[in-house]
Amino acid sequence: MRTKLVAGNWKMHGGLAANRELLDALKAASADWSGVESAVCVPFPYLHQVRELLRGTPIAWGAQNLSEHEAGAYTGEVSGAMLRDFECRYVIVGHSERRRLYGEQDAQVAAKFAAAQRAGLVPILCVGETLEEREQGATEAVVARQLDAVLDTAGVAALRNAVLAYEPVWAIGTGRTATPEQAQAVHRYLRERIAGRDAEIAQEVRILYGGSVKAGNAAQLFAMPDVDGGLIGGASLIAEEFAAICKAAKAE
Ligand code: PGA
Repeated sequence: MRTKLVAGNWKMHGGLAANRELLDALKAASADWSGVESAVCVPFPYLHQVRELLRGTPIAWGAQNLSEHEAGAYTGEVSGAMLRDFECRYVIVGHSERRRLYGEQDAQVAAKFAAAQRAGLVPILCVGETLEEREQGATEAVVARQLDAVLDTAGVAALRNAVLAYEPVWAIGTGRTATPEQAQAVHRYLRERIAGRDAEIAQEVRILYGGSVKAGNAAQLFAMPDVDGGLIGGASLIAEEFAAICKAAKAE
């Protein structure tokens, strides 16, 4: 039985006052989703604040990116060890916005995935196709390529300490969610592909869905057999929405 995980991706949003208000509300509501794991992935400058506010609560925290390097002359970069200093559990790796806007290629994503695990972090590896790729019938080929780039370097056993997230690019921030059936089809495909390397690990690994998840559609998505929770962007900034999504994961 895979424990559901709902992770918020705040992206480049937040502020000291707004974060406090949001997290206070989530802390107060978190008893409602006992048995579901929850986390927030926040901008680097707020990790200290978030750690102070969430320490001792059931809500974990993490970052949205890290360097593939351990340390050195990499101006503007942040290492996995630095994230561990702030007791991050998770770090998002290979988000489509990183791939698309910052040119991250499969090999760099694989290196970041490995760096996260070396630092003791749990990477949330994002894969997903663009609308054009979907329309060309290339969805499976694209997510397979993105997944294999990591498995070929890290090995399938690395998935024991990782989370996958299927995030169709056309559904991110667009209000256009994949239908539960569309999500399930890709999640099943990913799990079968992993099973080709190791059947037991394929059954254990959590595969989150991300892309315009809201309180109103979360339950149907989470009801799918291979959807093990969500990676939530916009709706993670609204306490009632995020709390309702976490509760929906509990119901399933
Ligand atoms: P969204 O973002 O929920 O705002 O679509 C999801 C994500 O990018 O992780």
